[in-house]
Amino acid sequence: MQRTKPHAQEPESSVKKDTPIHSEVDQRLQKIWEKAYAARTNEDLKELYADWAKTYDDDHEAVGFFGHKIASELLVKYVDASKEANILDAGAGTGAAGIELAKLGCESLTALDLSDDMLSKAEEKGVYRHLVAADLGLPLDTFSMNQFDAAILVGVFSYGQAPAHALNEIVRIVKPGGVIVFTMRTDFYESDAMGVRSRVHELEKNHAWQPVEITEDQQYLPKKDPTAMFRVWCYRVLETKIPEPSDDFAEAVREAMTSKSRVKRLDHRHIWNSMASRLYNRYIECSDYYLPDSEEEIIDSYKSDIVGEERLFVELGCGSARKIKHLLSTALIDRQNQDAPLTYMPIDVSKGAVNSTKNDIEAFFGDRIAVDQRQGFFNEVLPTIPDDIAKVMFFFGGSLGNIETLAETVDFLKSLRDQMTVRDRFIVGMDLDKNPSVLVDAYEAGPPNHSFFLNMIRRINNELGADFDLAAFKQESTYDYNAPYKGIENRSVNLKLVNRWPQDVFITKIQLKVHLNAGEAIQVGTSRKFRREDIGRLLELSGLRLRRQWLDRKDYFSLNECVRDDAVV
Ligand SMILES: C[S@@+](CC[C@H](N)C(=O)[O-])C[C@H]1O[C@@H](n2cnc3c(N)ncnc32)[C@H](O)[C@@H]1O
Repeated sequence: MQRTKPHAQEPESSVKKDTPIHSEVDQRLQKIWEKAYAARTNEDLKELYADWAKTYDDDHEAVGFFGHKIASELLVKYVDASKEANILDAGAGTGAAGIELAKLGCESLTALDLSDDMLSKAEEKGVYRHLVAADLGLPLDTFSMNQFDAAILVGVFSYGQAPAHALNEIVRIVKPGGVIVFTMRTDFYESDAMGVRSRVHELEKNHAWQPVEITEDQQYLPKKDPTAMFRVWCYRVLETKIPEPSDDFAEAVREAMTSKSRVKRLDHRHIWNSMASRLYNRYIECSDYYLPDSEEEIIDSYKSDIVGEERLFVELGCGSARKIKHLLSTALIDRQNQDAPLTYMPIDVSKGAVNSTKNDIEAFFGDRIAVDQRQGFFNEVLPTIPDDIAKVMFFFGGSLGNIETLAETVDFLKSLRDQMTVRDRFIVGMDLDKNPSVLVDAYEAGPPNHSFFLNMIRRINNELGADFDLAAFKQESTYDYNAPYKGIENRSVNLKLVNRWPQDVFITKIQLKVHLNAGEAIQVGTSRKFRREDIGRLLELSGLRLRRQWLDRKDYFSLNECVRDDAVV
């Protein structure tokens, strides 16, 4: 990897420190940056850039920013900048990098930006073949894997702007051998406040890319603040960017896609990867999705009842640490005078999920809580937990209801029961049956929700080398009454993606040709809705006893406290 000297076009001597920028521009920029750093939502950003688009080019000129020039030069150094090289300018803004790349001979340029106003300015420059309005925080479904020879991101990673994980999608759409060039303020990168530095290293560790050249510090705003520095990073995408998929996933896809049944079914657990977790977090912010609010209301109202004497808190499928934090805080207050340490054990198949939960809890509680995180499947991890201290296990959300059949639900609960002693408690969320219109609204809640369910097909494309047209799928949830199981009513919302036009797809990793007719559906999840009166019976069939049940005010959701059926009353 090379390290370059400060940029040759802007030697120290050329910096006009004696010609400060006009104070009007200075004040305007100050205000804009304050707003930019404080931006919380995409709407904030769009509003900011709608205003700034008009003066953006002049302002950049006034502060002497030249990141777009040096980044473009670095890009063409490592990519054959023939006319046809496909280059993505991500966070293109008004097109500053596009102009430089065009000067250097690149003709096949695509601009992507969140802001329509910035994109209109970019369009006026006349250098882009395509302009795409998109959010770098979401999957870039309009672009296929390996579509670009290179990507450039100038001024995109900063407070309130694009998230660091956008780099994963950029790696996906740039072909192996292609390069990704980005600029960032050195102090922001070094402090890792936005997670870019750790993301860069993670991609390197996962053999997704390798560094090619990183420049020395350059002056970021030569005519405004000569002490602020930035660098340009150039990485080459590697053949090994996509890790081998698990056999389990490949097999599930083969089974679903070769099935003759009217609906092709894929178990909901296959939807999960780090992209799905991010999309899910956006989805649950939708107001129509009642479940997180109902559950949080229960935890908030009954936390003192829920917390007992146990010193070990186990959470199955940790996702976000929000809920357990309330309970751990309560436990700490309730046992202020006890010396016994409190241990929190998050268990998840996703390494990212357990690590981020651990960091979150440690940052919040310091050494008042010991975190003993375990990565793996529940059935592998639970037998390794020492049974000499009493534990309480939490299984929050509607996850139990995502198990395909009631028979499998009973098997799952039985296997958990086998890992409990008579002193242990298990607290499990179960979503309750309710008015179908509430359910339909919750599952048809809009774009983040659609993008979340689409992640199943996205995974097949990305990890198994398929070319499903994602735009062909529309989401359709149905509320179905299935055959009862041992006297237990069996109702569920089934989450389907319906294919709208015929598709012929080849899934490379499993060498399978698939033809989907218009109207054919792929089921990507099920969410069982339990009747209150059935919960005790379901637990009984699993060797557990329902001790207490907590509900929210609307009776939408339940948290159920269970013990082994042979525990003393
Ligand atoms: C500081 S400007 C840089 C523009 C241009 N690259 C340049 O060098 O002048 C940052 C740009 O990133 C875009 N941006 C910020 N967050 C984004 C996101 N999540 N998705 C897409 N674009 C985003 C903004 O709309 C803005 O146009």
